[in-house]
Amino acid sequence: MSLLIVGATGTLGRQITRHALDRELKVKCLVRNSQKAGFLKEWGADLIVGNLTKPDTIEKAMEGVTQVIDAATTRATDALRIKEVDWTGKVSLIQAAEKANVEKFVFFSILNAEKYPNVPLMDIKHCTEKFLAQTKLNYTILRPCGFMQGLIGQYAIPILENQTVWITGETSPIAYMNTQDIAKFAIAALALEPAKRQTYAIAGPKTWSPSEIVRLCERLSGRTARTANMPIGLLRFVRNVTSAFEWGWSISERMAFSEVLASGIPLAADMDETCQIFGIDTAELTTLESYLQEYFARILRKLKELDYKETKVKAPF
Ligand SMILES: NC(=O)c1ccc[n+]([C@@H]2O[C@H](COP(=O)([O-])OP(=O)(O)OC[C@H]3O[C@@H](n4cnc5c(N)ncnc54)[C@H](OP(=O)(O)O)[C@@H]3O)[C@@H](O)[C@H]2O)c1
Repeated sequence: MSLLIVGATGTLGRQITRHALDRELKVKCLVRNSQKAGFLKEWGADLIVGNLTKPDTIEKAMEGVTQVIDAATTRATDALRIKEVDWTGKVSLIQAAEKANVEKFVFFSILNAEKYPNVPLMDIKHCTEKFLAQTKLNYTILRPCGFMQGLIGQYAIPILENQTVWITGETSPIAYMNTQDIAKFAIAALALEPAKRQTYAIAGPKTWSPSEIVRLCERLSGRTARTANMPIGLLRFVRNVTSAFEWGWSISERMAFSEVLASGIPLAADMDETCQIFGIDTAELTTLESYLQEYFARILRKLKELDYKETKVKAPF
């Protein structure tokens, strides 16, 4: 049994890799840059250099592979367009997996993807779900909605650094999930008979609006946030302007997500039945309070230590 993880250097992919190795699975990671992925090798994974936009590298990566978890997606910082990686690249990956007769394919889509045909990434995710359904693969589709890890850069760090936190007013509340929890579902899906050719929504225990997250961060950090409101209409306007230029395609494709936020439709799911199927206790799912509490406690302790060391260096004796 050998598990191929695509997107293993990413926020979610690295947690899946860690969890798979902790479960003593034999893991191979398809990576674009072996130096950047050095930490995965140190953890005990094999690396194979490849790229979703280069089908020959994917076929090579499939050698000896029995299971695949795909946690890749276009990087916001990449010059590549969403369609090149998340559609053309994924079609190549799925076809290569089918050709290699892999026993299991786990794909990450996004919650409510079918509801937003005008949002490029949502549309592509939904099309990929339909494409998978046309194959003979034994697949499981997991549909998360938002990662807790993403809130650190968006809220926690700016608050600690007394920088402005940009929020979009009262938009769709999101049930953020810890990627460490999502990783457990991905690994459990590999051997789960009822999950064969099934799709599951994956969401955290509670929905959060931007202002609720700000208040939580303020309470846990003991700091006051400087917030500024970014009207959703302005986001839409910038998206339209940037989409007129080739350099702005990727930016505007990503900003199209403002449509999802503006819809007001909560991004959430009842996890009772899914947890039961996957053999995961709902009480085990990380709450945003505990996630951010741990983060702030760790960072504030570090800052205190640094402050103490600096004072010691400055002291004359
Ligand atoms: N972030 C969210 O809140 C969220 C919500 C719902 C669903 N999802 C889905 O969850 C999955 C993981 O998302 P994430 O936020 O963890 O992603 P991420 O942190 O942006 O990582 C993306 C990964 O994909 C790899 N990648 C990008 N282009 C590639 C290419 N051409 N060939 C091979 N690998 C490539 C990256 O490798 P490099 O290190 O080489 O760049 C990286 O490992 C995705 O399917 C995403 O759509 C995410």
